[in-house]
Amino acid sequence: MTAATEVRIEAEAGFEDFRGMLARMEREGQLRRIAKPVRPQHITALTGKAPTALMFDAVEDYGIPVVGGLFWTRARTASALGWPEGELGRRFAAGVAKPLAPTIVTEAACQERVMLGDQVDLTSLPIPFMHQKDGGPYISAGVAFADDPKLGPNAGCYRLMFRTRREMTIDLFTASDLRRHYTQYFERGEPMPVAIAIGVHAFEHMAAAYKAPAGVDEMEIAGGLRGKPTRLVRCRTMNIRVPADAEIILEGELLPNGWTADEGPFGEFAGMQGDLKHNPIFRVNAITHRARPIFYALQMPWENDWLNGPATEAACFRILGMIGVQVTSVRATEGGCCGWSIVVAIRKRAGEGKNAIAALLSLPVVKQVIVTDDDIDIDDPAQVEWAVTFRCQADKDVVVLSGLKGKHVDPSVRPWELPPGQLPITSKFGIDATIPEGIPAFRYERIEPAFKDAVRLEDYL
Ligand SMILES: Cc1cc2nc3c(=O)[nH]c(=O)nc-3n(C[C@H](O)[C@H](O)[C@H](O)COP(=O)(O)O)c2cc1C
Repeated sequence: MTAATEVRIEAEAGFEDFRGMLARMEREGQLRRIAKPVRPQHITALTGKAPTALMFDAVEDYGIPVVGGLFWTRARTASALGWPEGELGRRFAAGVAKPLAPTIVTEAACQERVMLGDQVDLTSLPIPFMHQKDGGPYISAGVAFADDPKLGPNAGCYRLMFRTRREMTIDLFTASDLRRHYTQYFERGEPMPVAIAIGVHAFEHMAAAYKAPAGVDEMEIAGGLRGKPTRLVRCRTMNIRVPADAEIILEGELLPNGWTADEGPFGEFAGMQGDLKHNPIFRVNAITHRARPIFYALQMPWENDWLNGPATEAACFRILGMIGVQVTSVRATEGGCCGWSIVVAIRKRAGEGKNAIAALLSLPVVKQVIVTDDDIDIDDPAQVEWAVTFRCQADKDVVVLSGLKGKHVDPSVRPWELPPGQLPITSKFGIDATIPEGIPAFRYERIEPAFKDAVRLEDYL
């Protein structure tokens, strides 16, 4: 049965929540609402084909609308954050530098409806099957919250694969704070309380994706990004605080089964289909949600990548600032999944093209770098290629480093040949496409049409 819903997207006064963000994105032409009924398993394909984010108001068999594609491009990411496109890295760095403690509230929209124990049924949510070779339907926009008395509060983005009405498998394969916390519970044979929030504002989502240093509360970073404290509420069944304005909260526990339950394959953030993994089970004890919730189906790989992009650009600004290189712009490009490949423009002093390469390649995920002068528009790939072509001598200006820490998701490191638990090693390279030392700038003077300012095209059209 198809249930057309009456959900209206409205911002709350003074505090922009997830719905407020959707409403603003719609006004800015970055989100479109679709009234025609849709099957959940068609949402990923449709969202990938659309020039805007899509919100499906009528999802067949569910009374819950589904939104997706919010962070699919730099422009949509900028719109979600309400920041100018060119300033994502700088604004992120500024937010991280000014963390704000969250406000704790006692009444919250995310608890307008409460389902406990046997009332819990994950099949009531429109959890979609997303990619051709996935192992099952996935919650892709889950933000996991934990709060251990000794380890402190923690938030991170984690995907979860549907198993049964009350169980999902969570991907805890890679090193993370949540994995570290869970390992302690696992070793004691105890379940670990965790809550999953679905449908949180870009500030909370991006802060959760950010690899904050251990001991830093990601929700304080979210406050810094927003410039206002994040509003949190205590869960109904456990002492964990979650975003009060979220759409849906799953309260539950990570069972001490360790890395034993099938999880995946799933479409990964590097744009390739991942492998089957073995991971812990998340058992749901309560579902709370707004009276008329919206389900967020985050689309891979770009939404995952763009949730990381501003933090990567911020790290580039920070590291170049530390070594005294004057950087005018930084782009974590889409071809490098918003993290692996970096283009920067700098105001160079002698040798700094190579200094910048050395610094940027030391960032864990960055694998290739192009450094240009600040007369190049680094948003224009043709200009970047022009600089590489005419300002670079391959035998002098390409820096190759080998033997650095790599990542399993990069097939070029042949991760399948490694013994279990061993980290891959990678090589990295940088191209110094700044004007070489000793070549006068006039050698690069651009062609200008004669009498350029004396004539107007409009007079001839
Ligand atoms: C959309 C999205 C999904 C993610 N899914 C996972 C995941 O399933 N498992 C994982 O280990 N990391 C995942 N990450 C990366 C972590 O969220 C990220 O490393 C975060 O900093 C972990 O937080 P924590 O170390 O505080 O737990 C994901 C990131 C994004 C943006």
